[in-house]
Amino acid sequence: MAHYFENEGLAKSDEKSTKAIIQDKLFTFITDHNVFSKNGLDFGTRTLLESIDVNNIKGNILDFGCGYGPIGIFLASHGLTVDMIDINIRALNLTKKNAKINKVHANIFESNIYENVVKKYDYIITNPPIRVGKKILYEILFEAQKYLVKGGHLIFVIHKDQGAKSVVKDLEKKYYVKILEKNKGFYVIDCENLLTTC
Ligand SMILES: C[S@@+](CC[C@H](N)C(=O)[O-])C[C@H]1O[C@@H](n2cnc3c(N)ncnc32)[C@H](O)[C@@H]1O
Repeated sequence: MAHYFENEGLAKSDEKSTKAIIQDKLFTFITDHNVFSKNGLDFGTRTLLESIDVNNIKGNILDFGCGYGPIGIFLASHGLTVDMIDINIRALNLTKKNAKINKVHANIFESNIYENVVKKYDYIITNPPIRVGKKILYEILFEAQKYLVKGGHLIFVIHKDQGAKSVVKDLEKKYYVKILEKNKGFYVIDCENLLTTC
């Protein structure tokens, strides 16, 4: 069985409609096999989204590893400008469908890590892939700095059993790090980029 970040050896498509209320707004999300959290909104993703003060977010946002789209679609539903990327083509097709269903606009494209990303963002927001291993996870979290404006934020969720505390310690070498939320072992971590990058 393929992992949720692979494009080969996928199970036959079996789309399913799920619903989620996020910060008092109702969303419909189509999910499928071989896409992260196919049974509906993941608790880590929910913790991340509930901890974000959308009224205080301005500028360009990148939803890294969008899956079927809950993070970017939630943010776009608040009128924010959102790019959404994933390596998983099935996930990207669902995101396009879900953006239409929820009547939001977003720029949705395939990218392996940041290879097709050309802009700098005010926010990179993600429930990052963990099963890809520490090397790729760290590439996603540390390389994010190159795609953030000075003062931009990388905001992500990680569970304590997935090494949240040591990840925070390592990220503190590069970013100004704050923990926004802790809920049932999930940490929402805000990393501010203090550097001007080129
Ligand atoms: C934990 S899931 C989160 C999905 C979605 N944002 C959510 O919260 O439901 C992580 C996502 O990262 C994607 N991903 C894994 N490796 C990637 C890579 N190298 N480049 C881009 N996306 C990747 C996976 O396909 C998956 O959709």
